[in-house]
Amino acid sequence: MPDFKALFEAAPGLYLVLTQPDFSIVAVSDAYLRATKTERAAILGRGLFDVFPDNPDDPAADGVRNLRASLERVVQFRRPDTMSVQKYDIRKPESEGGGFEERYWSPRNTPVFGPSGQFSYIIHRVEDVTGFIQLKQRGAEQDKLTDLLRERTEQMEAEIFMRAREVEAAREQLEAEQKLRQVQKMEAVGHLTGGIAHDFNNILTVITGLIDILAEAVEHDAALSSVTKMISDAAFRGAEVTKHLLAFSRQQPLQPREANLNTLVQDTARLLRPSLGEQIEIDTALEPDAWPAFIDPNHMSTALLNLALNARDAMPDGGKLMLETSNVILDEVYAAANLDVRAGEYVMVAVSDTGGGIPAAIRDKVFEPFFTTKDTGKGTGLGLSMVYGFIKQSDGHLKIYSEEGHGTSIKLYLPRSMGDMVDVEPPAPVDTRGGHESILVVEDDPLVRNYVAAQLEQLGYHTMVTANGPEALAAVEKGFVCDVLFTDVIMSGGMNGRQVADAVIAKLPSVRVLFTSGYTEDAIIHHGRLDPDVTLLPKPYRKADLARMIRQVLTQPPASVVAAK
Ligand SMILES: Nc1ncnc2c1ncn2[C@@H]1O[C@H](COP(=O)(O)OP(=O)(O)OP(=O)(O)O)[C@@H](O)[C@H]1O
Ligand SMILES: [Mg+2]
Repeated sequence: MPDFKALFEAAPGLYLVLTQPDFSIVAVSDAYLRATKTERAAILGRGLFDVFPDNPDDPAADGVRNLRASLERVVQFRRPDTMSVQKYDIRKPESEGGGFEERYWSPRNTPVFGPSGQFSYIIHRVEDVTGFIQLKQRGAEQDKLTDLLRERTEQMEAEIFMRAREVEAAREQLEAEQKLRQVQKMEAVGHLTGGIAHDFNNILTVITGLIDILAEAVEHDAALSSVTKMISDAAFRGAEVTKHLLAFSRQQPLQPREANLNTLVQDTARLLRPSLGEQIEIDTALEPDAWPAFIDPNHMSTALLNLALNARDAMPDGGKLMLETSNVILDEVYAAANLDVRAGEYVMVAVSDTGGGIPAAIRDKVFEPFFTTKDTGKGTGLGLSMVYGFIKQSDGHLKIYSEEGHGTSIKLYLPRSMGDMVDVEPPAPVDTRGGHESILVVEDDPLVRNYVAAQLEQLGYHTMVTANGPEALAAVEKGFVCDVLFTDVIMSGGMNGRQVADAVIAKLPSVRVLFTSGYTEDAIIHHGRLDPDVTLLPKPYRKADLARMIRQVLTQPPASVVAAK
């Protein structure tokens, strides 16, 4: 007969044999003792729940309750009962520091019946699944972590996207503000220079005019003649500067008309040839069907000349100058991105070189008057400002493309003209003779007034000099019959030149009118364009200019006839 007790105790499973209904321990396997850290002698005969109470430190512990319920079910239904995995902590022996240790079990309780079918014991068999559960928990934690990480990554991606959009918007805003500031700055500088140029013109008119008188007086004295020549040259340079300043401030009188830019570019290229030197090659690429542009051709030539000279200066060791024309449509998108551009059809003229390029840091400054990187005496810094003012005044647009070390391309966009092309009229032959006609002068600046009077008298004209409109009208009322009314445009005294002219024409329908101005104003010049019937002598002017213009108006039909047309 085998020793069943020894066999039972050595069985590899975790077994406990309980009595019923009081659930005290009658037998236990060695494996069970090891798993629950108990001793056979210490637990045999004791109540199950006395030996294995709930962990008092775990408020959620329900092992005792669940196990008791299962055992009661076994008794009641006389059937085995498999429990779900239970958290049932075990007490640690004092040698391990006391307290409880977390444990998970998978129990199954099975009834044992006697030979006559009477209920005798319950076998409580468990599996220690702590390792599995803990592993699963760690897995779940890992999953939770992975989920969290994914969520966080998604959040971060969304944040990065939003932030990038914000940065982009901020950058656009900044760019727009910078462009606006640049435009405003150029406007402010324009007003300032315009004002200065205006005052300067009056002063220069006097100087240049009086020098001529002086020069005639000292004609026979070589030393003094060279002095007057020096004064004259300086005044001439001053006049050039004021002219450029007026151009920059968009206040030069322009006579725009339909012009063929291809012809203009070709003429300019021919003109340039001698001043560019052998080392610079000139190349043209012209749009065969270039639209006509609405532009003042003389000033356009000057602008191209300025750009070409800049190109030459940028290529001291030689290179290529390229002149191009093409038809371009600037669309709404382009107009929106460039504050001061109107969408529409333009004729583009590009002047490009293979020179050193314009460093990005100064690209915004090159249009400012007096900005130059050239040595003193080599550049005044007015070339590009003039081009800028002229193009703006002509309702055009310009753009610099430049790459340091490779070259520069300056593109001028000129409004397309919708009418037919007209040929540029050849200039009238210059006639600087004087005459004996009568001239009524209206000029509010006393210096200029006296100078003009002196000049006209020298030329032989019969002159009446007045300081403002009412004075001039009074002279006409008193019977002064003039052939020419020579009047300033902007004046004190309540009447501008246009109003004076209209009043005088009403009295003397045969009168010719010559306006003079250092400034362009709405009275005769609308948006920088001369009215077609207006003849203007821009300030400052020399004696020869004055003589020529007086002769010119005398050959024109009377103002009343022109106006009536
Ligand atoms: N094609 C170009 N290549 C390189 N730099 C240029 C070019 N055009 C202009 N610049 C730069 O812009 C500056 C201003 O040009 P701008 O024509 O207004 O004056 P300037 O040539 O120096 O003098 P000015 O034209 O009055 O004789 C130049 O000094 C130069 O630094
Ligand atoms: Mg220049």
